[in-house]
Amino acid sequence: ATPLRLGVAGLGTVGAGLITLLRDNASLITARAGRPVEVTAVAARDRKRDRGIDLASFTWHDNAADLVSDPDVDVIVELIGGAEGPARALVEAALNAGKPVVTANKALIALHGDELARLSEQNNAPLLFEAAVAGGIPAIKTVREGLAADRLLWIGGILNGTCNYILTAMRETGRDFADVLAEAQELGYAEADPSTDVDGIDAAHKLTILASLAFGSPVIFDSVHVEGIRHIGALDFSFARTLGYRIKLIGLARQTEKGVEARVAPCLIPETSPVAQVDGVFNAVIAEGTFVGRLMVEGRGAGAGPTASAVAADLIDLARNTTAPVWGTETTGLQPVRSRPASER
Ligand code: HSE
Repeated sequence: ATPLRLGVAGLGTVGAGLITLLRDNASLITARAGRPVEVTAVAARDRKRDRGIDLASFTWHDNAADLVSDPDVDVIVELIGGAEGPARALVEAALNAGKPVVTANKALIALHGDELARLSEQNNAPLLFEAAVAGGIPAIKTVREGLAADRLLWIGGILNGTCNYILTAMRETGRDFADVLAEAQELGYAEADPSTDVDGIDAAHKLTILASLAFGSPVIFDSVHVEGIRHIGALDFSFARTLGYRIKLIGLARQTEKGVEARVAPCLIPETSPVAQVDGVFNAVIAEGTFVGRLMVEGRGAGAGPTASAVAADLIDLARNTTAPVWGTETTGLQPVRSRPASER
């Protein structure tokens, strides 16, 4: 069968993880996708850096934009990151050229998802981003497909692995913030600029995407209330423990009469709640629907393996030709929802 040929832009933690996964699981992926899924070309900043993977069989492009015009590339896999600059330019160029895109870029989808959804529809080029929310948890598929028939009342959860890792280690060992953050960076969990994680912005990006999927219209990222975990210290953990609570960074979006209200903030969660048990790099997506009731899906929210697994699942959908529209519905005509009126921001 004709292989699905990939052009991978960005060879950091996730890019290297994807190449390893596609190699190690090649035969099962071919069986499930109905055809081989193969990397043919790559683009990254530093050609010489040792990434622990063999790149010899791939065409190297110094400029990611050249992947779009490479005739041996069917799909662009965008793993550069960042809402603007080369990542945004590459995704726009690919969709305009009618090439499908798979990305792990939550900032890009949270800030420009609506515009990209239109480009995707206009050019009949799928845009998939399972890896953008909650790493290895199939969060997008859960909402867009598994819960497609229900009306959701609220959605959210623990959406940043770095913060959950830091809060867990501080609680369990009493170590200080900077020390644990350095460890999360070494493990490949943190963003290039870790303030994106610890100030709650990354969780807000993911919450914006979940809310857009759940409530069927784009949520404006700027109106999400965002608070991070920098100010939490030993005394907070001690009070929380005495009162029977754990501290978790929670993102939650719900529909109100005024529109969608979305917040990210550290919260006290009763120790006995299933959400309180989600520790370390694990994330949890929680939701309540009118028919389904409450549910929680838990899994690793960051790191090479989990994120690569989510990217590869999108690639299998593309290879099989079973992709869904960006927001689960055609976007044309949808009105953005303001999370909170400007007067309350
Ligand atoms: N920095 C992110 C996190 C990576 O820690 O959750 C996954 O999006």
